[in-house]
Parts: sequence; C-alpha cells; structure tokens
Amino acid sequence: MSGIKILATGSCKPALTITNDDLKKCIDTNDEWIHSRTGISTRRMTNGEPTWYIGAAAAKQALERAKLSPEKIDMIICTTITGDYFTPSCAAVIGREIGAVGCPAFDISAACSGFVYALDIAQKYLASGAMKNVLVVSAERLSTITNFTDRSSCILFGDGAAAAVVTSSDKFYSSYMGCDGTGMKYLYAKADHRDHPFTDSPVYYDDQTSPDAPVGVLVQDGKEVYKFATKALPHALMSALEGTGRTVDDIDIIVPHQANIRIIETAAKNLGLPMEKFFVNIEHSGNTSSASIPIALDEAMISGAVHEGQTLGLCGFGAGLTQAAIIMDT
Ligand code: UT7
Repeated sequence: MSGIKILATGSCKPALTITNDDLKKCIDTNDEWIHSRTGISTRRMTNGEPTWYIGAAAAKQALERAKLSPEKIDMIICTTITGDYFTPSCAAVIGREIGAVGCPAFDISAACSGFVYALDIAQKYLASGAMKNVLVVSAERLSTITNFTDRSSCILFGDGAAAAVVTSSDKFYSSYMGCDGTGMKYLYAKADHRDHPFTDSPVYYDDQTSPDAPVGVLVQDGKEVYKFATKALPHALMSALEGTGRTVDDIDIIVPHQANIRIIETAAKNLGLPMEKFFVNIEHSGNTSSASIPIALDEAMISGAVHEGQTLGLCGFGAGLTQAAIIMDT
C-alpha cells in the first residue's frame, strides 16, 4: 500500500472581506437568510490580484513550512476553474514565480473536486517512484465568474488559494474519483470566445446549457446541486473505503468541500457520523471551489485538528458533476 505524506500546507486568503450585508449592494438579501441557509457570514475576495499570484503565495508558504527549496519539486499540479490565461497553465506561471522551473507543470479542471483529483494523481506518480515531491496548488477567483445579480448563487462564492507539498509514505491510502457529465447542466460557466473570421458564433452544448445564459458567469440550479451534493459526499467516502476492510467509523476527521453547512450536516447524518468529525470553516471562507478543501486542511493542520497518527478523509463534489474522496493515514 503506497500512501502519501503531506509535508506541509500553505494558504493565501485575499485581503478583501465581503460580509453578507455588503451583498445587499447587488441583490435583495439579508444576513439572516444567507447565514441560516448556508452557514456563511463572510467570504474573501481578491482586489485585482491574479489567480497565479494567490496560488504562488500559498505555494511559497507551503514550501517554507516543508523546508524544501523549489528545485526539489518534481511536478506542479494546479487546480483551478478561474485561471488567468487559456495558456500557459496556471501551474506554469506559479512555477515561474516560485522558482520551480524545469519540472512538469499542468492544470486540471475538476471544479470543487479538483484538489482531491490532483492529490490522487500525485499519489500515483509518487507510488511509481518516478517522483519524490509533488506540489499541488489550488487557486480560485470565483468572484471573476460570479453573477452578482443572481441572489441564489452569488452569496455562496469566495476567492482563495492553498497548496500542499506531498511525498510518498508506506501508510494506508485509498481513493475514489468519479464524474457524471449528464449533470453538467446544473452548474456551468460558458467559456468566452472571440468573434471568428470564418465561422458563426460559438456553439455550446445547447440542450445542456441555456442559449440565454451569459458567457463567463456561473449558472447554477441550486436545488439540483444540493440534492447531488448531499448524496455525493457520503457516496464518494464510502466508495473510497470499499474493499479496504475499514469502515467510516475508522475515520478520525473529514475535511469536506465547504459548499454549504447544511450539505455537510445532512451528509453527516446519512453517514451516521457526528458533526465533530467534520472540519468546517465555511463561515468565514464561503465556497472557494477547488481551493476550499486545502484552505480548510491548512487551517486544520495549523490548529492541530489534523495531525500525525490519524485517519483523514478528504471529500470533494461539484461541477461536472464530479465527486472524489481520499482516505489516508497521516
Ligand atoms: O460547490 C458546489 C456549489 N453549489 C452548491 O453547493 C449549491 C447547493 N445549493 C444550495 O446551497 C442551496 O440550494 C442555496 C443556498 C443555493 C439556496 O437555498 P434554498 O434553500 O434551495 O433556497 P431556494 O433557492 O429554494 O429559495 C428559497 C426562497 C425563494 O423565495 P420564495 O420563492 O420561496 O419566495 C428565493 O427567492 O429564498 C429566496 N432567496 C433568497 N432570499 C434572500 C433565494 N436567494 C436568496 C437570498 N436572499 N440570497
């Protein structure tokens, strides 16, 4: 069994704090509604800093804490749905900024499951012995694709980044990754295309995404995503446990995607687990897509809630519709 060791994490929380009351400037809402329906009070937003910048800041902190120089990084995987460039990848730009050049660097797009997908890819390379240290960076500026006139979605999202430096270990590790594209219509943002000299306007998957949906902003069917998420969280965790001889009760602490406190509470109930087993920081971070799990993990490691000698669960779910989980001994 080829496990992984998280040598260190780091994070970058942008300076702008947006309260629920601040959102009244854009939409008809109130703090009571948002807090009781989502668990969110404030979220962070960037004030012009690019995605690569916050990703690089998180990566630098993780490397410092791991006491590792950038030349020792064998691969950089960045997870983002809000990169600054179509190309190069955010990972390439972050590598340049932190001084980790030469090693492979690429982005993956798996929305809120991105960090778990990336960690699982890292584990495969580490297990093969081909690499020693992998840097996973999750960086998101959801504020750049949020529709601030849609009160049922703009209340959820925030910006942020976090990183993890991982190496191999001989401890327990098991994972699950999945995606069901038939649910793409419940959560999407159309890519922005320029006018083309030879063809008509861009064609999307028009029976899945509304022709009227604005380009470049998130469109969400909150109720459908909610239903999916409450099932995906337990399903991904149980799938990762399958065939391992371990049960959900063996998990000491779970760091789930921070989408909505009610999703986590419902999933906890369905799994028969107390809420104390779930690390939750949504109140002051909101939903930062792929950055949400590593930001929470960073807080959990710094506070000591996640420490050596535990069985840790990580679980993501989101657009795609994707879902993924890792169960690992720390
Ligand atoms: O990473 C995954 C990303 N997405 C998610 O996790 C989203 C999952 N879904 C959710 O979290 C919930 O569906 C929401 C928080 C988005 C919405 O909560 P809900 O309980 O499903 O509310 P709703 O959309 O059914 O709206 C209930 C009422 C409606 O009023 P009426 O029709 O009952 O009079 C809405 O118009 O609440 C109203 N409403 C609001 N009121 C004040 C909707 N948004 C707001 C708002 N402020 N921001």
